[in-house]
Amino acid sequence: GAAELGPYRHYMQKEIFEQPRALADTLEGVEGFAPSLFGPGAEATLRQIDRVLILACGTSYYAGSTARYWLEALAGVPTSVEVASEYRYRDSVPDPRTLVVTISQSGETADTLAALKHARSLGMPHSLTVCNVATSAMVRECELAYLTRAGVEIGVASTKAFTTQLAGLFLLTLTLAKLRGRLDAPAEAAHLRALRHLPAALQAVLALEPQLIAWAEQFAAKEHALFLGRGLHYPVALEGALKLKEISYIHAEAYPAGELKHGPLALVTAAMPVVAVAPNDALLEKLKSNLQEVRARGGELFVCADADTQISPSAGVHIIRLPEHYGPLSPILHTLPLQLLAYHTACARGTDVDKPRNLAKSVTVE
Ligand code: G6P
Repeated sequence: GAAELGPYRHYMQKEIFEQPRALADTLEGVEGFAPSLFGPGAEATLRQIDRVLILACGTSYYAGSTARYWLEALAGVPTSVEVASEYRYRDSVPDPRTLVVTISQSGETADTLAALKHARSLGMPHSLTVCNVATSAMVRECELAYLTRAGVEIGVASTKAFTTQLAGLFLLTLTLAKLRGRLDAPAEAAHLRALRHLPAALQAVLALEPQLIAWAEQFAAKEHALFLGRGLHYPVALEGALKLKEISYIHAEAYPAGELKHGPLALVTAAMPVVAVAPNDALLEKLKSNLQEVRARGGELFVCADADTQISPSAGVHIIRLPEHYGPLSPILHTLPLQLLAYHTACARGTDVDKPRNLAKSVTVE
């Protein structure tokens, strides 16, 4: 009801603004990266496994796609990620020393549950879920769990569930890193500080809303949009494109920026805005040359940069700056502007933001 919405127009907007609180709740009580975060007896299992297979659908799949970069880079664990509805029907090669990780807001998505059971039937007994509903089928089915505390999510387009899933997956990454001797005490302390500061960092990103409202006014008149990212931020671009599709009905796709010249550059005109996720990381210089390719074809750029990113606005280049660069947790921060862009674009187009046509909050049948 209206009372629950408070000052917000839609549940989606409320849930976007709840993220500092949702992340704080999800990380409450985390004082280090210990297997016990994932349940009693987790240490024995986490010591046995030597690879990770992530299975999920929709937005949860993009959380998993982000985690793959973390798990390989920080924990040194070979990781694959697959859409659950593909994995469950594919002939694949099982490895019994795999940790099967399912990610699900609801814990009831039929394809993800079936994919988990399929993996088990192939001889992979070890499973862990990152899930938002403690009483769900997924939590019952999995040996280990990290429960996100996003709270009830009503908007069909997932927002706070995604960023809390990322937090849970980061904890899994660092726990595996520590077990494997890849996390010394100073690094652990630095990561803990970054996690504790995350709610305040997210609050500062949410303060960019007026600038995203201005961007959304321009997007509302378009029928296509392209999202670019590289590395850890490629899944963020995918999630940004998904949000825009789901609620504004604008056709959007995401590409890893290095693939631009292998196809999507042919689509670039002034009629297709290009959103670039451009944090101040090691890939920034590469990304900037991709962006020049877009500009040279008359494409209009909307760049999400960090405070100290060396990039300046000019004709056809719009820039918003996140307050600080956030290292490996940067995907959590860079997701928020894209949520706000999709949300305000949908509002400007007058769509049914919380209940987009043809979509359901939780897909419990195949
Ligand atoms: C539906 C929802 C999405 C969600 C996906 C997976 O498509 O509309 O927002 O990401 O299901 O749901 P789950 O509950 O498994 O995360």
